[in-house]
Amino acid sequence: MSDRYCVFGHPIGHSRSPQIHAAFAEQTGQALTYEAIEAPLDDFAGAWHRFIASGGRGANVTVPFKEEACRLSDVLSPRARRAGAVNTLVLGNNGETCGDTTDGIGLVRDLQYQAAPLEKARILVLGAGGAVRGILEPLLGARPATLMIANRTAEKARRLAREFFDLGETTGGGFDEVVGTFDLVINGTSASLGGEIPPLPDDLFADDALAYDMMYGDEPTAFLAWSGEHGARTADGLGMLVEQAAESFFLWRNVRPDTAAVRKRLRPER
Ligand code: ATR
Repeated sequence: MSDRYCVFGHPIGHSRSPQIHAAFAEQTGQALTYEAIEAPLDDFAGAWHRFIASGGRGANVTVPFKEEACRLSDVLSPRARRAGAVNTLVLGNNGETCGDTTDGIGLVRDLQYQAAPLEKARILVLGAGGAVRGILEPLLGARPATLMIANRTAEKARRLAREFFDLGETTGGGFDEVVGTFDLVINGTSASLGGEIPPLPDDLFADDALAYDMMYGDEPTAFLAWSGEHGARTADGLGMLVEQAAESFFLWRNVRPDTAAVRKRLRPER
């Protein structure tokens, strides 16, 4: 029997992960199945334990279960502990549940693929929720000149900046405190879901700046449309999804898939 993997979420109907992992498995000749499972909102742990009882070897975890997956893990990677979230579960050799997160490294890999300015760059991150917490460590590891976190609730951004300051120059504040220009602006708010854009100054982007939205869809998000009109290059989060999936695949199978081939398959026109 093939090893079973899945992604847990709620809702999960539109997930691209089964398609991505099927492509990785085909490409690397790994015998595995990967499905999308809608876990009950009040019993994520039960869904995971039922899955491993029926041959499950590992899983991806998406909204809204990443924090709960962190709590139920018997063993946590240091980066998952710092992020306070788990997007990859691995069943250990002794039946223990190991939790890791590949979101942050997935973002940085995609930014490198997009030739984004990182080292010595001025980076602005919008939002201070779980999604942003998960990317700060690898972003600061790329040694930007400075990283500002701006959020609707300014105090949350300030708190997050203090928490990560040991990894590099990090400041936090409200959108009205954003001054100067930035080489890279990453939208990690959920404002795009409602078609909204955080209120930002018109002269936000430095020359050759990249605007990145961690969300993705068939149409550009409101933030990316606005950024394009204000002179930035733009990229959405589909590449991050592929790269984080590849890192999870590596954790499970110890094989690195070719992400470029899968990117082309998902979005042939780009
Ligand atoms: P996630 O896990 O996706 O990060 P979250 O922890 O609920 O979800 O965080 C959502 C983020 O989007 C927060 O930074 C939130 O700002 P607040 O902390 O002020 O709530 C931000 N956000 C949501 N809707 C927004 C909007 N319409 N405009 C600006 N920011 C928004």
